[in-house]
Amino acid sequence: MLLQASNIKKSYGNKFNRTEVLKGIDLSLGKGEFVSIMGASGSGKTTLLNVLSSIDKVTSGHIYIDGFDFTTLKDKKLADFRKTDLGFIFQEYNLLDTLTIKENIMLPLSIRSMSKKEAEDQFNTISQQLGISELADKYPSQISGGQAQRTSAARAFIHQPKIIFADEPTGALDSKSASDLLKKLQQLNENLNTSVLMVTHDATAASFSNRVVFLKDGLVYTSLTRGDMSQDDYYSEILDTQRVLGGVLDESK
Ligand SMILES: Nc1ncnc2c1ncn2[C@@H]1O[C@H](COP(=O)(O)OP(=O)(O)O)[C@@H](O)[C@H]1O
Ligand SMILES: [Mg+2]
Repeated sequence: MLLQASNIKKSYGNKFNRTEVLKGIDLSLGKGEFVSIMGASGSGKTTLLNVLSSIDKVTSGHIYIDGFDFTTLKDKKLADFRKTDLGFIFQEYNLLDTLTIKENIMLPLSIRSMSKKEAEDQFNTISQQLGISELADKYPSQISGGQAQRTSAARAFIHQPKIIFADEPTGALDSKSASDLLKKLQQLNENLNTSVLMVTHDATAASFSNRVVFLKDGLVYTSLTRGDMSQDDYYSEILDTQRVLGGVLDESK
């Protein structure tokens, strides 16, 4: 397993007023797997993604990536690990407004010792794959939401990380831009064999992944594997499971 999380607990608050959001989660992600995390609003999806991606610290439990437990790393080492091994896509794109699209995408390469030519090659390859080559010299304010999210996907993949973490990557997109992005994510996942862990409240988005893990009351409630199912059948199963799960489904937020 590329990522193995065991008995993850996370609480917020102080000793007088504590909320336990994650109550003992076990989760694994194989090399090249594309997994979705679903669950009602407030069920802890973002919290789980943040601890699995080292953005936030667990209260207890261990997370291994390539057999290496990063929960015990000190901040500086953790930051280095995050920059080299992980890629991130957020709902709100998180592009830097004062940098061009190309500069934004190339940011993760600045920590690598890499020739200019190599960096240019990497940029050309990934921007072509995401269909945004012609936007290189534009600024974030000059492109659409769909283009912005494909830019942030390019930035997530350019340094060839082991895992991409995506929190509601289609949450701010219209349905056409959303499915364009998901198809690109699916292609990159297959072609580059980069593992993807995506939080989503949207059954359509989840139907692009190989497996869906459902959270409820701080625990893994159940999971669904696509296997040989058609995407449509898989989508229906995801909807059915969501219904059984109940709770308030996330509105687009
Ligand atoms: N930094 C925080 N401090 C206190 N409570 C938090 C914090 N982040 C999240 N929570 C609480 O944890 C629960 C799960 O939140 P979250 O992980 O954002 O859920 P989801 O992404 O599934 O909507 C919510 O009840 C939320 O209010
Ligand atoms: Mg969330």
